[in-house]
Amino acid sequence: PVAERIADLLGRMSLEEKVGQMMQLDARSGDLDDLIVGKHVGSILHTSPDDLPRAVETVNTKTRLGIPLLIGDDCIHGYSFWPGATIFPEQLGMAVSWDAEKIEAMGRATAEEVSTTGVHWTFSPVLCIGRDTRWGRVGETFGEDPMLIGELASAIVKGYQGGAKAGEPLAKNAILACAKHFAGYSETQGGRDASEADLSHRKLESWFLPPFERVAKEGCGTFMLGYESIEGVPVTFNKWLLSDKLRGAWNYQGTLITDWDNVGRAVWEQHVKPDYTHAAADAVKAGNDLVMTTPQFYEGAIEAVKNGMLDESLIDAAVERILALKFRLGLFEDPRLPNPERIKTVIGCEEHQQLNLELTRESVALLKNNGALPFNLSRHAERSAVESKHPRIAVVGPLADDAQTQLGDWAGNSGQVNWMPDGHPREMITTVLDGVKTIAGETGAEVVYSRGANIIDLVPDPEGEFYPDGQPRPKVAIPAAVDQALIDEAVLNARQSEVIVAVVGDVVQLIGETCSTATLELLGGQNAMLNALADVSKETGAPLVVVLISSKPQVLPASVVGPTPTAADLNVDGTVVHCREIAGGADALLWAPSPGMKGGQAIAEIIFGLTEPSGRLPITFPRHAGQLPVYYNQIRGQHGNRYADLTQDPAFAFGEGLSYTTFEYGEVTVTNVPASGAFAETDTVHAEITLTNTGERPGVEVVQAYIGDIVTSYSWTDRELKAFKRVELAPGESATVAFDIPVADCTIVDPQANRIVEAGEFELLIGHSSRREDLKRTVFTVA
Ligand code: IFM
Repeated sequence: PVAERIADLLGRMSLEEKVGQMMQLDARSGDLDDLIVGKHVGSILHTSPDDLPRAVETVNTKTRLGIPLLIGDDCIHGYSFWPGATIFPEQLGMAVSWDAEKIEAMGRATAEEVSTTGVHWTFSPVLCIGRDTRWGRVGETFGEDPMLIGELASAIVKGYQGGAKAGEPLAKNAILACAKHFAGYSETQGGRDASEADLSHRKLESWFLPPFERVAKEGCGTFMLGYESIEGVPVTFNKWLLSDKLRGAWNYQGTLITDWDNVGRAVWEQHVKPDYTHAAADAVKAGNDLVMTTPQFYEGAIEAVKNGMLDESLIDAAVERILALKFRLGLFEDPRLPNPERIKTVIGCEEHQQLNLELTRESVALLKNNGALPFNLSRHAERSAVESKHPRIAVVGPLADDAQTQLGDWAGNSGQVNWMPDGHPREMITTVLDGVKTIAGETGAEVVYSRGANIIDLVPDPEGEFYPDGQPRPKVAIPAAVDQALIDEAVLNARQSEVIVAVVGDVVQLIGETCSTATLELLGGQNAMLNALADVSKETGAPLVVVLISSKPQVLPASVVGPTPTAADLNVDGTVVHCREIAGGADALLWAPSPGMKGGQAIAEIIFGLTEPSGRLPITFPRHAGQLPVYYNQIRGQHGNRYADLTQDPAFAFGEGLSYTTFEYGEVTVTNVPASGAFAETDTVHAEITLTNTGERPGVEVVQAYIGDIVTSYSWTDRELKAFKRVELAPGESATVAFDIPVADCTIVDPQANRIVEAGEFELLIGHSSRREDLKRTVFTVA
């Protein structure tokens, strides 16, 4: 019957109504009645709580066919624009957990909250690969590894859509997911957002397509395109990608949407189409269904059909898919209006806050610790006793109490969507200062706070850009000089304290879409402040704990990680003196990528040992922006693949992260080697390793399994993540950790972009991180 209802509707729709169905416009871009009645718009985004019911009312009362609106928004780490909604860590933060189960639960909770508000569709998850960390949107990714991305994306999609498979109806408390940005958008030049990417079919097949293929086949309802081109053809017009690959080879039945004005930009920015008629016609021919925020698509597509440039049957096919999506959501029976009762009970409810806290605890990575953490205030009491006072903790730094930056991009008043600037009362957000005060307060310790440094100046710019609500957008300027008074105050507080917690990072105005950075250094006065605090720490013996709250890996000064090795640090045999062997640096370093509203609580709990740190890096930390790209699974090159003046050894490698306990690995064994001695392509390798918690505290180890094809016919990487498990062990406890790795997954990509398994020997590497020295090794053979 749904197919019949769609056919019936299509038969009654005028060309204008059909083209309108294909348009998604910004609810703030004009009078809603004009958009809906005048242009028959079928979908809107960025709708405010007031606009939404009004828009639905207009459809019902003023349009001929009453086709329900499809309403989407960027609810990418919770519905972070909605007052009081649960704001989880950003995707990169969630990825630090390597916990697919919690991420699925996060998707579920977000769907419950979003669905109460009348929004049907989130533009999440991002499946881009975070390789060049200068790119402003790295924080929106699940990191650098295609396998990890696929695993976590699959989980969050399941959560959003309530487990509905391809084509199945969505429950009332589920929402549509959107896999974006298809495909290769992150492979920008120099990290500059939406710059041209150099993407061959082989490169796409090797890294960028696999996570998308997975969620396409698992029934992710929608896909959003990227801004870049493949072999010179912008993705929006790329028949190979959209029709041959996605709809053809993968048999994807879902709906495609462009990104923001992709169709218009082809005319006014990229100059690859002479006018909107050509742009509209070619976008439809390539396989797009919904066209985001290109008002000219309306006239362009109508004109293209009328002058014979575009076959109306292609418009019909797109509209059919859009209507099918609306039926899948049950919108014809129930427009899913905001539900005030459920809004009260579901948005930001206790259960979601608790889940958020649990996920955030796992989203913090301990990257360095010389024993300073966890804090045991009694350890420091001696010095305090001499001065006859309680232990004192200096909490210092511009990120220690910056609730907005802690929430990350696409939240509150981040500038992307600012109709709800005061949506979250300050008391809903725990900063590190709040968290430390609460926990330290219980022990009688005193907490002193100083800002220590500024990161940017916001300069009024009435001549510049405007927010959609008409307010001028201030210009961001990097302070010309370090504010010495701020540093002096921080130093004074630090000198009188038993421990120093310095919270540094990036700032919300310099992250996100259109906000790539040329450098990765801590901006403003932060490095000068850290250097001064490191001096105090050396002088007084008060440990310096650095907390990095940043949307992506940043380059940390020598006072935190130790000096950057240069050519002079190379051993005579060409190996590199690892940074850990070089003296200097902070006593402990924690990284929490945009950790959301519970960030400060989770971080403080870890600092005081109330929570065991368990995060692992889903992305490599460079030591210098000049090292980029520095991801772990680079293709094997020649000449050692390194610079003359700087090691290619990263500051911290993919998969790294410490615990407060220690783990020991046994040897890897493959338990099912066939009698012939070699596996067939259809076999599965069963591997086991013993893991023991050798320390005195409980802890979680993320056991990682990599495969390396020892000799390949075409250039390839020497190892790729194939599986992982979070394993929790009590002190002294051992467990056998088992992995089943299908031989069919041990592929390389040939010059024709085919995935193939080559016969020969393979390394199976299991252990703590992607660093070879952290991995136990065995070899198996494939015939
Ligand atoms: O969903 C986003 C996309 O990721 C980037 N451009 C704008 C879209 C809608 O806000």
